[in-house]
Amino acid sequence: MKILVTGGLGFIGSHTCVELISNQHQVVIVDNLVNSKPEVLDRIEKITGVRPVFFPVDVTEALALESVFAAHPHFDGVIHFAGLKAVGESVEKPIAYYYNNLVSTMVLAEACLSHHVNRFIFSSSATVYGDQPSPYREDMDLKTTSNPYGETKAVSERILSDVAKANPDFSATLLRYFNPVGAHPSGLLGEDPNGIPNNLMPFVSKVARRELPKLKIFGNDYPTPDGTGVRDYIHVVDLAKGHVKAVEKRTSGVSIYNLGTGKGISVMEIVKAYASVNDIDIPYEIAPRRSGDLASYYADATKAKDELGWEAELTLADMVRDAYHFETVSGK
Ligand code: WQD
Repeated sequence: MKILVTGGLGFIGSHTCVELISNQHQVVIVDNLVNSKPEVLDRIEKITGVRPVFFPVDVTEALALESVFAAHPHFDGVIHFAGLKAVGESVEKPIAYYYNNLVSTMVLAEACLSHHVNRFIFSSSATVYGDQPSPYREDMDLKTTSNPYGETKAVSERILSDVAKANPDFSATLLRYFNPVGAHPSGLLGEDPNGIPNNLMPFVSKVARRELPKLKIFGNDYPTPDGTGVRDYIHVVDLAKGHVKAVEKRTSGVSIYNLGTGKGISVMEIVKAYASVNDIDIPYEIAPRRSGDLASYYADATKAKDELGWEAELTLADMVRDAYHFETVSGK
């Protein structure tokens, strides 16, 4: 298949391009480089032996996007990763988040309709479930999310569902990610946020590299087995493979899948695994809870297994090993 991947040079997008190419699909990447680097293209080529076609285009710009569809008139599907994704920043810059994440979804969906591209895979998030007991199932009602980033995912899901309702040939697959971590085992692709990382795994990696002195564990008095927050961490390579299964599946209307492992892991378990697998000390201190954090959530991952034939295979040891390997090998 020939697939347009927006945000294809980002963390999840780049890993997905590798898995698509490894499964004999043809990839065209659109990325505005706001949170990614052009070298990622070289690294995708190094891993796969194939250099994808790349357009340095912002998906919110309809005319620029039109030139991509004009140059490649026969996409079999699109996977839409492009977007802003920092929860804290979204609270400070709500307009940037609503504008980028919603306008890009609408501009891309409209281009798909006018070019008869009927398969749209959307990068959504478990954050759309809001605050309710786990495991999260795809048929649960959604609750209000606690920040503009989360709202852009919930509203984009709604927009795509309405587009699918109005256009019977158009199908939308909404993939709700849990906490993607790890890196490509080659050490060539991984998560490389600008500045001080907000998310746990990149922060631990900076501590491992001694670029930051110690990790703050946000709260150890949650109602969880060891008191620290619990999440469903999933290796980014497993997540990428889920996209290949989703784009290959014939569907109609709206399909929703959780992409998680189905298993909760605590912050303390992450720290201990990172230290022991990589044989490195991770200094930490217990700090107050971070505002807006939930105690615990994880996926019910059975629907993706039953309908896509996909399930996460990589372990916590793989996640922390590959995250550290990327830090030490990538030369970034
Ligand atoms: C994980 C756990 C923290 C940093 C967010 C978004 C979600 C998705 C992924 C994507 C929590 C604890 C963290 C630190 C810590 N967004 N923690 N010290 O908040 O589950 O999910 O990122 O694009 O939509 O909400 O992920 O990695 O920030 O936190 O103790 O320095 O680690 O309290 O329990 P989160 P996270």
